[in-house]
Amino acid sequence: MSTSAGYLELVGVEKSFGDTAVLHGIDVSIAEGEFISLIGPSGSGKTTTLRIITGADQPTDGSVRLAGADITFVPPHKRGFSMVFQHFALFPHKNVYDNVAYGLQLRKVGKRELQQRVDAMLERVHMREYARRRVGELSGGQRQRVAIARALVIEPRLVLLDEPTGALDAKLRLRMQSQLKELHRELGLTFIHVTHNQSEALALADRVFVMNDGRVEQSGPPAEVFNAPATRFVAEFVGRNNLIDGTVDGGDFVSPLGSFRLNGRADCEGLHGPCTAVIRSDSLRLGEAPDGAQGASAQLQALEYGGSYVTWFLTAGGTQLQLDVRAEESGALRPAIGQRYAVWWKPDDAHYLRSA
Ligand SMILES: Nc1ncnc2c1ncn2[C@@H]1O[C@H](COP(=O)(O)OP(=O)(O)OP(=O)(O)O)[C@@H](O)[C@H]1O
Ligand SMILES: [Mg+2]
Repeated sequence: MSTSAGYLELVGVEKSFGDTAVLHGIDVSIAEGEFISLIGPSGSGKTTTLRIITGADQPTDGSVRLAGADITFVPPHKRGFSMVFQHFALFPHKNVYDNVAYGLQLRKVGKRELQQRVDAMLERVHMREYARRRVGELSGGQRQRVAIARALVIEPRLVLLDEPTGALDAKLRLRMQSQLKELHRELGLTFIHVTHNQSEALALADRVFVMNDGRVEQSGPPAEVFNAPATRFVAEFVGRNNLIDGTVDGGDFVSPLGSFRLNGRADCEGLHGPCTAVIRSDSLRLGEAPDGAQGASAQLQALEYGGSYVTWFLTAGGTQLQLDVRAEESGALRPAIGQRYAVWWKPDDAHYLRSA
């Protein structure tokens, strides 16, 4: 599943705590300069994987390699990695400059070079004018920028970010995301990022790793993982999808919503027997199916207001459906719970999975 020559590689990494196995053979290969996002439900093993990469913990079996060298048992401080945590872990009584300079002082970098590197990094994160301000006197977003500056100034071999924007409000989070992306582009460092925020993974990552129960269930560019989930788990976890269970028989998908032609699509080749159609909630539309589209009739169960759009929850033949309708359109339709509505989708917007 790895796409490129490994800079950081986890090879057959297993981890047990006592009798409980929590990682079951992680094999990943990350290229130098890649931005990787790890996503997955609570307890799926994201933090454990990150701790094994940092050296805070060791695998029960398997190895960690960096640029070809086995680093499985190299202690954290000798790996040359940087971490950015959700709560920043800055020194509140030191000023901005001293926080950023700290890692370089530990590495005994000469005074002149240290000053140049700290100034340049503060400039990059637009914090130079706050250099003498104590961290305790900064806003959340400013602290976040100091935390990132401190992590990057040492030119780490790997940057590990655990929920780096988790403590920020929505607007600031977006600003930090674009700043992180820019720093990644400019500095060319390798980033591994854990997040609960899927839109953040989508915005930042070159590749997303979806973890489930101690395994990497799917990895790939965000658009691929979001548009073509490889398993039912990924389809349920990533994005907001409708899952329609049915059976493929002689080129037709037979489901409680009706029977639909697969039209010889390449991705459906060889499909036979129990299958699931996956349709994103923003690919399902209201109204009679136009020519060439596929459709069904469904009963409205509930509405959820989401600002610029309203999510309609419907059922069709026992299958739950959800679709997003622009707020004005939804209002104009005066939706009535219990009433039946026609829904449709473009055949290309349905993605088919073999049921396990
Ligand atoms: N020190 C430990 N001792 C025993 N079990 C542990 C320990 N650390 C983690 N676990 C277990 O390992 C599994 C994976 O935990 P991990 O913290 O890696 O999950 P996560 O994906 O980071 O979850 P979250 O999204 O909630 O942060 C969980 O079932 C957890 O209870
Ligand atoms: Mg965690």
